[in-house]
Amino acid sequence: MATSISTTGTTIIATLLLRLLLVPYSLAQELYQNVPSKSDVDLLEFPLNLEYLEAEFFLWGSLGRGLDCVAPNLTMGGPPPIGVKLAKLDPLTRDVIAQFAYQEVGHLRAIKNAVPGFARPLLNLSAASFATVMNNAFGRPLVPPFDPYANELNYLLASYVIPYVGLTGYVGANPKLESATAKKLVAGLLGVESGQDAVLRALLYERAKKKVMPYGITVAEFTNRISELRNKLGHAGLKDEGLIVPPVRGAEGRIKGNVLAGDRFSLAFGRTPEEILRIVYGSGDERIPGGFYPKGADGRIAKSHLKDA
Ligand SMILES: *[C@@H]1O[C@H](CO)[C@@H](O)[C@H](O)[C@H]1NC(C)=O
Ligand SMILES: *[C@@H]1O[C@H](CO)[C@@H](O)[C@H](O)[C@H]1NC(C)=O
Repeated sequence: MATSISTTGTTIIATLLLRLLLVPYSLAQELYQNVPSKSDVDLLEFPLNLEYLEAEFFLWGSLGRGLDCVAPNLTMGGPPPIGVKLAKLDPLTRDVIAQFAYQEVGHLRAIKNAVPGFARPLLNLSAASFATVMNNAFGRPLVPPFDPYANELNYLLASYVIPYVGLTGYVGANPKLESATAKKLVAGLLGVESGQDAVLRALLYERAKKKVMPYGITVAEFTNRISELRNKLGHAGLKDEGLIVPPVRGAEGRIKGNVLAGDRFSLAFGRTPEEILRIVYGSGDERIPGGFYPKGADGRIAKSHLKDA
């Protein structure tokens, strides 16, 4: 009994001594792991482009004012977005979108706490900009032009266009990150972005068979077309799926309802920054800006491609 206590005591003391000796090593290791490398900084700054867009679209859509009013410092003096405005939304949609809006403001702060970041890029969030996406998705002009701000259904469809792209970017960035700090931040951002995508998809899924007026095209068809367009622009195969798919594309290849998109193992698809630029520029080419970013996106990765054009 006494021997066993003293053995335990010795073990504890030995462990403590070992810990003390190891402190400088583990502290150094932790510090090292917590410094984002140059490559991590680039990968963390890139998503600011999408977070700025989402913050402005959701803030204006739900509250009728943007970052210049809600968190002016976060713009770092970047130009105000073009054509964004308050959307006509029912109370539930407005409430959800306002929550998303403030979440995006938090994401901007979180990223800027970790890396220097850059000013808000010029964003084209005009109705015409979204109408162009929809026309490209259908391969013909919708008449009258699609207006994201006209009602909650249109706004939800327009919202389907963006957070999902951000989410695939975080999935794609994750395996390339080196520091623990960067991985923790990206996991946190990915969790909430994919939550937003899930909420948007669930709200749309409830209305999947409803016709979007005056086009007479179902909500499901809109999502399928938008997803197909993103697959086409990304030039990297199938990484995007609408709300109703051939069963072979559904979970386990067995179900057509597709409230969440995923690969054959129901894992989230990942995209590279280049694939994302091709999609958000609407050009299918990371060197040719346009679409939501008339002057291109910012940060080292996006700028490196603009230079080659
Ligand atoms: C915003 O920036 C100004 C000027 O740099 C500074 O004085 C102010 O404290 C900042 N406000 C916040 C909320 O960070
Ligand atoms: C915004 O996008 C629309 C539609 O593509 C375009 O007609 C308009 O010129 C764009 N505005 C700017 C300033 O780029």
